[in-house]
Amino acid sequence: MSEVHIYPTAQLQAQACAERIVSIAQKALSARGCFTIALAGGGTPRLTYQLLATEAYSSQIDWRDSYIFFSDERCVPPESRDSNARMARETLLNFVPIPLNHIHRIHGELEPQQAAEQHETALRDFFERRLGLRAPQFDVVLLGLGADGHTASLFPGSPALHALGRWAVANEVAALKSWRITLTAEAINAAANVLFLVSGAEKAEAVKRVLEGPHRPELLPAQLIRPEAGSLHWLLDAESAALLTLTQS
Ligand code: 6PG
Repeated sequence: MSEVHIYPTAQLQAQACAERIVSIAQKALSARGCFTIALAGGGTPRLTYQLLATEAYSSQIDWRDSYIFFSDERCVPPESRDSNARMARETLLNFVPIPLNHIHRIHGELEPQQAAEQHETALRDFFERRLGLRAPQFDVVLLGLGADGHTASLFPGSPALHALGRWAVANEVAALKSWRITLTAEAINAAANVLFLVSGAEKAEAVKRVLEGPHRPELLPAQLIRPEAGSLHWLLDAESAALLTLTQS
């Protein structure tokens, strides 16, 4: 069951997202002594990351026992302007006291298959061998939504939509004429909390189709995200929620 939360502005949306991440982190740290989050790429989460990096928010999380992963990455080196790892560094990770070896970035500079296998190994080392879990039970997976209904790098009609038994794969994205490395739907759906963070009028049609349209995940991969035991929250700004029936009352 997913919950939809609508905020009048992107600023209030980012505040709500940062507060939700802090609250989940505190519960995880006190319950299990560690907090794990898979960060989203793209532009929408920047504001949330910048807020989390402020003293007011960052002081509420024990970063020494926090672990950072990524929902997906572009096949570029970490210093590239297109790198999700770079965006996260420059908006959050450079400003909080997290040990560098707690940041498990996807090595987009490697050959795609090699990068995916390396990330799969890193995920299994951490969740299976270190935490003794059978699935990557992230405390939080943060996701965005493309105007075409993609999330992470699970693009419409792309091979990664059919990945079985894998947690991270290389995905050839015809629409972009390029490769991406992405968590699979299976890995994302093992999370305790999945947060979609979506803003802007250009996303309104996709939000409407994903949340209120027929179930067609091949065309709308965001519909693959249905956490098995976890919670699913859509944090939308008013513009991206504008076409939803529930806002038409
Ligand atoms: C990426 C993302 C991708 C993103 C959406 C939305 O690497 O691009 O992980 O899934 O979340 O494309 O992107 P914007 O937030 O930039 O609109």
